[in-house]
Amino acid sequence: MNIDWQTKLYFLIGDPVEKTLSPKLQNFIFKDGGTNSLYMAFKVEDKDLEKAIDGFRAINVGGFNVTIPHKQKVMKYLDEISDEAKAIGAVNTVNNVNGKLIGYNTDGPGLVQSMKNECVNIKDKNILILGAGGAGLGVSYAIGLEEPNSITIANRTLEKGEKLKYSLEKYFNFEVKLMDLSLKGLDKGNIDIVINTTSVGMYPKEDEKPISLQSFRNGIVVYDIIYKPLKTKLIEEAEGKSCKTFNGVDMLLAQGIMGQKIWRGEEISKDSIRKLYDIF
Ligand code: ATR
Repeated sequence: MNIDWQTKLYFLIGDPVEKTLSPKLQNFIFKDGGTNSLYMAFKVEDKDLEKAIDGFRAINVGGFNVTIPHKQKVMKYLDEISDEAKAIGAVNTVNNVNGKLIGYNTDGPGLVQSMKNECVNIKDKNILILGAGGAGLGVSYAIGLEEPNSITIANRTLEKGEKLKYSLEKYFNFEVKLMDLSLKGLDKGNIDIVINTTSVGMYPKEDEKPISLQSFRNGIVVYDIIYKPLKTKLIEEAEGKSCKTFNGVDMLLAQGIMGQKIWRGEEISKDSIRKLYDIF
């Protein structure tokens, strides 16, 4: 790698950042595309967030990613926020355009893009989203933009689900239903796409499953955003029902690629994307 004074710098800030795969992903794309850029991850504590952003401005970084716990708080230090990030209330990608810091959220759009890449249609479909946390919110909003027939939110804590239902109803006209993870009263045969945004099934509790897919139709689409393990119990069951499945790496790559598009203003080559899938 040829690092010189022109090297454009990109960062991830969060706390913790030890487990992040973003540097591997982003540096691969930079290198494969022959771009003179470098991506590094730094642990930034809550109290230092503003100073970190000031530092980014001072050295005129290309852009940066933001992860837990700064996705909400970072918004007040930026100059502009995309409509999507505003609606979700969280930013994970920031672009520096001539000194102006613009915030985006690529989590939900990344998930949607990964399904579109595989020709999965969301319009007029009935979608079941498990979880109403930060990820559930981003995913629901991005799915909403694709005009589904209905979204059913299933969350362990109904009060948290209520908030998400309310904000979806504010933006969209389709039917939004809410229930807990027992799925009592759900017409399972009617669901076309199931998306798990809860942490149930994630390492080290990989034997758990947020719901059973029994009584759902065979061959539906099942997306689990967990990437450790790659094959969760939910995905295992889905494969047994001949479902089309997506995992957390599909989402990770899609949202990373979307971030690069925002930073560089151009598509990543199909060849680079193919190579990425071989690495992850
Ligand atoms: P993220 O930003 O990744 O979405 P989060 O905001 O902490 O993280 O949300 C985690 C989601 O997983 C929530 O929907 C949470 O349900 P609650 O709202 O009831 O907390 C869900 N979740 C986590 N552990 C769970 C468990 N053991 N059983 C069911 N749902 C669980």
